[in-house]
Amino acid sequence: MKSGRIVVAERGGPDVLQWELTDACDPAAGQARIRIWTAGVSYADMLMREGVHPEKTPLPFTPGWDFVGEIDKLGDDGSRFHLGQMVAGLPIQGGYAQHICLAEAEMTPVPEGLDPAEAVCLILNYVTAYQMLHRLGHASKGQRVLIHAAAGGIGTALLELGRLVGLQMYGTASKSGFDTVSKYGGIPIDYESTDFVDEIRRLTGDGVDFVFDGIGGTYVWRSFKTLRPRGKVITFGLTASLRKGELAGGLRYRFRGLARPALYSLLAFFSPGGRRISLYSIQNLRRLKPAWFDEDLRALFDLLREEKIKPIIAQQIPLHEARRAHELLGEGSVLGKIVLRCDDTKTR
Ligand SMILES: NC(=O)c1ccc[n+]([C@@H]2O[C@H](COP(=O)([O-])OP(=O)(O)OC[C@H]3O[C@@H](n4cnc5c(N)ncnc54)[C@H](OP(=O)(O)O)[C@@H]3O)[C@@H](O)[C@H]2O)c1
Repeated sequence: MKSGRIVVAERGGPDVLQWELTDACDPAAGQARIRIWTAGVSYADMLMREGVHPEKTPLPFTPGWDFVGEIDKLGDDGSRFHLGQMVAGLPIQGGYAQHICLAEAEMTPVPEGLDPAEAVCLILNYVTAYQMLHRLGHASKGQRVLIHAAAGGIGTALLELGRLVGLQMYGTASKSGFDTVSKYGGIPIDYESTDFVDEIRRLTGDGVDFVFDGIGGTYVWRSFKTLRPRGKVITFGLTASLRKGELAGGLRYRFRGLARPALYSLLAFFSPGGRRISLYSIQNLRRLKPAWFDEDLRALFDLLREEKIKPIIAQQIPLHEARRAHELLGEGSVLGKIVLRCDDTKTR
């Protein structure tokens, strides 16, 4: 059986995303083959495309951190799942495809009746937000938080989950994202025309308990300056490394992107007030605590089923137009998550 996928054979901008038709994979023992319905498009995909993501991706590779699909073939020894069952996964690469073969241990069942486009939004964005709030932050009612890129994919997930906890939330965004931030109960801060450190001081007096910083670079230290005593910056992204979807300033950003937060967290440790900077990585935490990932994703599927959360889908785009999806995300001002429809791509 033939199966389509997107392949990156050289590093670069969105045009390196190429459509390819190959034989569908055959699941090995302990694996299942999934017919993918939806795949998430993320900043991490763009960073991998450019070759600046901390996860190594030897060429050629198929991007795609997360997917939802249906099991269409089981390998030997497969027992946890059945044919036709809807499952979700975070393979880190391989999601931009019509089929993927994956170990059963890496899949989480998706409850009946959920929309695969909404369900896929929960895997990378909402698990990241949930784990930063609950596993690292232990955030509790009434605490103050600052969320950067609050109208983006992870930003809106943090706002939605933070509202369930009862947090007092501030969110940086460009003007076009203000309504979204307000809708979720956040107070928007225009990062383009104001200094967010001054603005937080003005609005709160003594600062915030947590900052969720996906921008990276020098932002991390400025975020640190908004903390009240014993507050914490959780840094998790490298958005500052990209401009208009392409690598900003060459490969030195790779070193800076990784070395800076580590240096800042050391400086923070020796600063007065017990303020801290912690690094979060969904893939590293999953390697360390695989049960947490599965547990947290199931908890989020329950919240979706109970209609306590409703992820924003910016656009649904056919798989073979992945390049357009990357161009859109790279241009900025995308509200919520771009989802690839992998089941729409019959011909090309
Ligand atoms: N560590 C982990 O485990 C993990 C997991 C998932 C994602 N990430 C990282 O998290 C980051 C966010 O990912 P995402 O997919 O959800 O992307 P996103 O939130 O959609 O981020 C893009 C948005 O960031 C906003 N932005 C850009 N520069 C900004 C700035 N200086 N201040 C405030 N907002 C700014 C832009 O919004 P405007 O249009 O308003 O300018 C842009 O639309 C990425 O760096 C990604 O790699 C890390």
